Amino acid sequence: MDFYLDTAQLEEVRAAAAWGVLRGVTTNPSHMARAGVRESEMRGHIQELCWIADVPISVEVVALDADGMVAQGLDFATWSPHVVVKLPTTVEGLKAMARLSRSEVMASCQGCAHVTDCPIRARFAQQQRLTRRPEINATLIFTVNQALLALAAGASYVSPFVGRLDAVGEDGVALVADLAQTLRVQQQPGKIIAAALRHPVHVTAVARAGAHIATMAYTILTQLIEHPLTTAGLEAFLQDYRRSQEER
Ligand code: E4P
Repeated sequence: MDFYLDTAQLEEVRAAAAWGVLRGVTTNPSHMARAGVRESEMRGHIQELCWIADVPISVEVVALDADGMVAQGLDFATWSPHVVVKLPTTVEGLKAMARLSRSEVMASCQGCAHVTDCPIRARFAQQQRLTRRPEINATLIFTVNQALLALAAGASYVSPFVGRLDAVGEDGVALVADLAQTLRVQQQPGKIIAAALRHPVHVTAVARAGAHIATMAYTILTQLIEHPLTTAGLEAFLQDYRRSQEER
């Protein structure tokens, strides 16, 4: 399973990228607001995230109608070859997914502060992947049927919101398991991004349930690696080592 960060904070992405385990970033309008990013600053901010992490970055539209979503999605997709357009799983969202997934855009990285010497851009250019069909992440998924419709409309990623289902007395992990099993039976391509995870137990559970990706807050990522017995064990090893050196 791949680990994604669910954030728009540059420092969190920088820190997680340095661990060597970060495979993607998902943002949403709430994350953008929390990071203090205004609409006019969005392109620069996403390009900075791309530069820091060199991984796919989901960017969510705010339009509610298909025409508006397509216009925003086409714009986002030009910002960087790493941009994945995030669309809500509504009727208008499905229409936009169908149109966007069949369109072609040139990821020109226009206005990016790093474009002149960017190894990421050079790599995509070499692979002839700067002109491409936008990839789509279908968000706000709460049922298997919504996910199947999004994939049928052209989404590459589907994002079930685990913790939000738990919060209303349903079982978010069971949805991930059901969805993973359905995709296997149908031999349906598409990746499940388990989202709205609330704690480390969710992360293990969605991995067992068959999620391809888990996207989480930076605080959860740090909780995954920390254990008091690891800390205490390391300290004891070092104390023994230091003592042995002093005894010589
Ligand atoms: C996923 O892509 C979403 O950004 C995210 O997980 C939203 O979840 P939350 O706002 O309930 O934490």
